[in-house]
Amino acid sequence: MTDAASLSSPIFTRSDRLKLGVFHMNCTGGATPSTAEGGINPLEWSQQVRIAQLADRAGFDAFIPIARWRGYGGPSKFNDEQYEAIPWAAAISALTERIAVFATAHVPLIHPVRLAKEVATLDHISGGRFCLNVVAGWNQRELDMFGVELIPHDERYTVAGEWIRFLEKLWVETEEFDFDGTYFRSKGALSDPKPIQRPRVPIMSAGSSPAGVAFAAEYADICFAVADSPETLQPLVARIKDAAAERGRTVEVWTQVGVICGDTEDDVTRRYDHIVREHGDVEAVTNQMTMLMGGGGKTLDYKLDPAMLERMMAMQHSYQLFGTPEQIVKKMQQLADIGVDGMSMIWPDYETGIARFRDAVIPLAVQAGLRSAG
Ligand SMILES: Cc1cc2nc3c(=O)[nH]c(=O)nc-3n(C[C@H](O)[C@H](O)[C@H](O)COP(=O)(O)O)c2cc1C
Repeated sequence: MTDAASLSSPIFTRSDRLKLGVFHMNCTGGATPSTAEGGINPLEWSQQVRIAQLADRAGFDAFIPIARWRGYGGPSKFNDEQYEAIPWAAAISALTERIAVFATAHVPLIHPVRLAKEVATLDHISGGRFCLNVVAGWNQRELDMFGVELIPHDERYTVAGEWIRFLEKLWVETEEFDFDGTYFRSKGALSDPKPIQRPRVPIMSAGSSPAGVAFAAEYADICFAVADSPETLQPLVARIKDAAAERGRTVEVWTQVGVICGDTEDDVTRRYDHIVREHGDVEAVTNQMTMLMGGGGKTLDYKLDPAMLERMMAMQHSYQLFGTPEQIVKKMQQLADIGVDGMSMIWPDYETGIARFRDAVIPLAVQAGLRSAG
């Protein structure tokens, strides 16, 4: 399997100590289940373009959508509308200049022959800036719409491995070939054009179970690790990097962060209380947790513990990059020190949040050696 170190994508050729990605913006509410003003509600294409161009011009490294087919309801209609990531990425690619553009694809819902060509097309549209986030699928309610059964947890990653091997072959083979796998069979397979990035586009994945980490170590270039403190994140980062090293590979680890940047600590608390405590969407989060705990789709008589409820309302259990600009840079430093390579960032209000981060935080991150100037 190709190693991240050999990929020519702009995301791997820049030398910043901590990379910056904008995440989860292609659905209503983004990752903030709240009725507070300023969020993504309703979902509007012109706003997606404004957010993408703002992040692109501000020097962010990555623009990462989610793959979702059903939302969680509640008064905020949390995630009830979602732009499908592949056509979304095509247009975003054409309207930006340097940011790496991702699409997220569900293994059980898209055939490698179709996706190989879509990815190559996206890589051409973006001029070699496209990256693929691979999700194995967990939500039976979504899969039910396709008539697809959720298979046992670890086997999902076995299927995903074969799916990626088939994709890779389509991206490199110049003569037609037969693919004879356990899950995929194909006769006379061939896909042209090839992606611009050689031998393939960068792959991201997000599992932190043993099977998810093994999959990332074997096939991904970036793995998402989610934890709520540097102390809990550190062993997970080490586990992912060690698993890759055992296979003679390197994998970057990115973590999901929610950002609330205030002028003072009181300002941060005021913003947090407004978004989470006063306007947090309890109903949407309860629906979401019911789906998560039920394996997706089954209704449980399930009551959330209030602390977990609040953590989920506070940008979906992300690491809380909350504080003044100075405090935020200190937290970024801590993440870099434990081996985190990048952050997938969520804001309650992406437009004002990204602009504020650009003006108040990035200059301090440059001074701290976390980002290069310009
Ligand atoms: C940061 C992050 C982003 C994810 N994005 C999606 C997504 O867009 N669509 C989806 O169906 N699952 C998504 N997932 C779920 C993962 O693909 C995976 O099912 C989950 O992390 C559990 O994996 P595990 O059981 O191997 O730990 C995401 C997970 C994380 C942590």
